[in-house]
Amino acid sequence: MIQIGSRPQKSTSEPDAVDLLLGCHDRIRKFVALGLRVAEPGGAPAAERREAAQAVHRYFTVGLPRHSHDEDELVVPRLLLAHPPAALPRVLATMSGQHEDLHRLIDRLTPRWAELAASADPDGWLQGAGAALAEDTRRLHAMFVTHLEPEETIIFPAIRLLLPAHVQRELLSEIRAFHLRE
Ligand SMILES: [Fe+2]
Ligand SMILES: [Fe+2]
Repeated sequence: MIQIGSRPQKSTSEPDAVDLLLGCHDRIRKFVALGLRVAEPGGAPAAERREAAQAVHRYFTVGLPRHSHDEDELVVPRLLLAHPPAALPRVLATMSGQHEDLHRLIDRLTPRWAELAASADPDGWLQGAGAALAEDTRRLHAMFVTHLEPEETIIFPAIRLLLPAHVQRELLSEIRAFHLRE
């Protein structure tokens, strides 16, 4: 049975698949926080704001889709094959549904981050479109708060609890291979 909130111990000090996935969550939190700052008018010099908008755009169009792919395509099928407790398939389906919602919202945000990154006058751009950008970025933040918690307290512990060591190693190398491909 899965212990909610448990963090099963690893057998080695080498990073495992869950460590890689948690590293992605650190980056998600970092870029959501940067996205919130980017949408706040005032304070930052124009070049700095353009650079931050570019970094946020890049993370959410390149890095995050890889992480969602890892969870949907590499983690879910393995957990479903591991005779999971009855509640887990529903948790996994909710996670994948949330990925679709998150990526739909991100599709709305990316053209705005691109415009801001290319703007000669980022403060002027924010005066026109900043409120909508800030509102959708706050929505993104709230969605991630809801999304990351069950991954970290139910799904990732299930990887360490339910998947045999050789399957966890295979998962780790497939995540690494996918991230190195592009
Ligand atoms: Fe996710
Ligand atoms: Fe995740």
